Amino acid sequence: MTEISSETRFLHAIEMGLGAWQWGDRVMWSYGETHTDKDIREAFDVSLSQGLRFIDTAEVYGSGRSERLLGKFLKETEQPVLIATKFFPWPWRFNKGFIPRALKASLERIGVESVDLYQIHWSSPLLSPETMMEGMLECVKQGLTRTVGISNFSQTQMLRAYSRLAQHGIPLASNQVHYSLLNRTVEKNGLLARCKELGIRLIAYSPLEKGVLTGKYSPQNPPRGVRGGTYASVLPKISPLIKLMTEIGQDHGGKTNGQVALNWLICKGTLPIPGAKNAAQALDNAGGAGWKLTEEEVGKLDEMADRIQK
Ligand SMILES: NC(=O)c1ccc[n+]([C@@H]2O[C@H](COP(=O)([O-])OP(=O)(O)OC[C@H]3O[C@@H](n4cnc5c(N)ncnc54)[C@H](OP(=O)(O)O)[C@@H]3O)[C@@H](O)[C@H]2O)c1
Repeated sequence: MTEISSETRFLHAIEMGLGAWQWGDRVMWSYGETHTDKDIREAFDVSLSQGLRFIDTAEVYGSGRSERLLGKFLKETEQPVLIATKFFPWPWRFNKGFIPRALKASLERIGVESVDLYQIHWSSPLLSPETMMEGMLECVKQGLTRTVGISNFSQTQMLRAYSRLAQHGIPLASNQVHYSLLNRTVEKNGLLARCKELGIRLIAYSPLEKGVLTGKYSPQNPPRGVRGGTYASVLPKISPLIKLMTEIGQDHGGKTNGQVALNWLICKGTLPIPGAKNAAQALDNAGGAGWKLTEEEVGKLDEMADRIQK
């Protein structure tokens, strides 16, 4: 286990964050129909009041609207917020110079001089991990970001990014990947273990499996839009897992299914960043932190998750 570097220690101290894809996105999240700017603002306020102050956005969320909303909220709060955003490797962004340029545009939208974490949103066949890290090093050099992260990088790509940064004495802070009770790929393919070994924080996205792990969706009541298709084959099988989560939640004083799903990720040593469309969801999600499932409960959840995925 590599010692965690002083630059990235703050990330390891964060138990949970707040995802901001919902802020302005109409295609996946029906922004404007299911939630408004007022709802989002309330979700932001509730999260901060509950001690969640790590916000994950991206330049592509709502085509910049998520970053602009974050900027607006930041101006209106006294509370300290930790900001993470992302670079999207569009095919026309063919050299490392696009990375600091994109970050400057993000900073402009958010209205800050630097962010706490700048992440490459996806790997790309057009820019190697090494080239991408050269661009990220430029961002660090110019004081535009405190730390460097990646997202959706395989173990091989991650090791290449890690090594290139290490040549310059800069730690790789995080890899943000899909991880939940219904998607345990990173546990099974060794990525999670490798992150722990190298002191890289694994940030777990879609930790509630886009709402499915709260137990509110069923084959009769599927999520709207694109999500309905994605989860069509999972929903008929999920009820034994939801039942177990409910039982375990009851043994912890009435924790909700979503809170159990989030706590399971915390127990796995990762940082979940659930999205929330309103204050009620944000409050519920915040209750996923600040306590711990027992090892036995984690084991039971693992076993059930495996069983329903067969
Ligand atoms: N790096 C990447 O490629 C990547 C990819 C995906 C996500 N992310 C990041 O990860 C964050 C979280 O992932 P996600 O947004 O995909 O999914 P998620 O956090 O698994 O699910 C969020 C959705 O679940 C529902 N929900 C949330 N809390 C709830 C609660 N307490 N009770 C009932 N329903 C609740 C809401 O949708 P409904 O009310 O409509 O059901 C909400 O929009 C994103 O916001 C983003 O920051 C990153």
